[in-house]
Amino acid sequence: MTTSPLNPSDWESVREDLHRLLDRCVDQMRDAEDHPWQAPPADLADRYAIGAGGDVIARVMDDVLPYHGGNTHPKFWGWVQGSGLPSDFVAGIAAAAMNTNGGGRNHGINEMERAVIDWTRRKMGFREGASGVLVAGTSQATVISLQAARVRACPDVRAAGGDAVLTVYAADGVHNATRKAVELLGLGHDQLRLVETRNGAMDLQALQQVITADRARGLNPLAIVGTAGSVDLGAYDDLNALADLAAAEGIWLHVDGAFGAWTRLADAPWRKLTDGIERADGIALDFHKWMYVGYDCGLALIADESAHRAAFAARPAYLKGAAEGLAGGDPWFCDYGIDLSRGNRALKVWCALEMFGEEAFAAAITRNCAQAAFMADQVQTHGMKVTAPVVSNICVFTADPRLSTAQQSDLNERIATHLQLNNATVFSTTDVNGITCLRAAITNHRTRDRHIAEAIADVAKTAQLLKGSLG
Ligand SMILES: Cc1ncc(COP(=O)(O)O)c(C=O)c1O
Repeated sequence: MTTSPLNPSDWESVREDLHRLLDRCVDQMRDAEDHPWQAPPADLADRYAIGAGGDVIARVMDDVLPYHGGNTHPKFWGWVQGSGLPSDFVAGIAAAAMNTNGGGRNHGINEMERAVIDWTRRKMGFREGASGVLVAGTSQATVISLQAARVRACPDVRAAGGDAVLTVYAADGVHNATRKAVELLGLGHDQLRLVETRNGAMDLQALQQVITADRARGLNPLAIVGTAGSVDLGAYDDLNALADLAAAEGIWLHVDGAFGAWTRLADAPWRKLTDGIERADGIALDFHKWMYVGYDCGLALIADESAHRAAFAARPAYLKGAAEGLAGGDPWFCDYGIDLSRGNRALKVWCALEMFGEEAFAAAITRNCAQAAFMADQVQTHGMKVTAPVVSNICVFTADPRLSTAQQSDLNERIATHLQLNNATVFSTTDVNGITCLRAAITNHRTRDRHIAEAIADVAKTAQLLKGSLG
């Protein structure tokens, strides 16, 4: 046994402490309904100040575990957050023992990452030979896909930098991740054309017109970003139509499928929403959203492996590969993305799929879509108003459509806060037609229909309670 000041002097007592911690963690996840989000106490920052030492396991149990973000709770539907799985315990513990760096070289986790990417490739209908890399999330995956597009369009851009004006096209309402990617790649977000939508999907005529106008001005259309599941409304672009247009124009089709790509696993009618995704050049998606896997884990999937590799590969002497030994193994994931040092994300996904089977995920995704429709029914039953079509797993509504626009916005915001603070129920908000609405994005395998019925009844009650205090 190696001794070090950074090793415990008594491993047996560490083992016992860890068992205690594991018991508490398992209880907390098993009884997730009893552990909603709670506001962090005022002295929490003081409790976290570095230097107190003491019984760290006890401090984690008392001061850390209770103050989570709420998304393990069955009534959490805010923003788009996954609910976490018991398989994450297995992966987290094993990953800590291994402390593997998945940037490359010849060890098991790289094989496992390839297996996870290959499974996803098949689910998304990409042909064999496509490549991928696990990343922190869709934001980073978008940068990777658009960089592959840029290097394919301008092969010398890695060496020379770019002076061509490259333009990118996406639906008005595309997630901010695309804007950030365009900024980070130095294209400038003025070059991101936001195309109007019709029934939630990019208007194809408008898209064609803006591409044609850009070409006429001597600009260089680089990529269309299709959305599979918009963050506000869960709407989908017509991916087959976008693929036709991208092919005719000879430009890259990237799909932001952060959560919505996973309707590929769902039953009819939701599965059809992603028809055509298999024709994309690149997809960004997350396991940590609608595959419920613990944070963080996203994937950049690229149809053309050589375009992917050309955008990132670089092997200075200190990263030279070998035919055998630890420096063997091929490919190395550092050649497909931004990071050299990489944690063990594949294990979380692999444990989830192997423990529960893909059918269980397909059923949960299908159920979440049905639950969004059920929520819309409940909203109407209580005399409230659904403000956008429920396409997949997102339901957006206003509590009292008879009030003025400003009063509806005010009331909906107050209801969201009140329910978070008092009812262990988390909606977020978004704007539809100038009204700030309540919004539920159901990416939660713990949600049951009764949770939805209770929550909507609570919204109606809270609206009555708060209406008197409106300006
Ligand atoms: C449609 C969409 N795209 C991109 C993102 C960003 O993903 P991430 O937070 O994994 O970077 C989100 C996050 O909610 C999203 O909903």
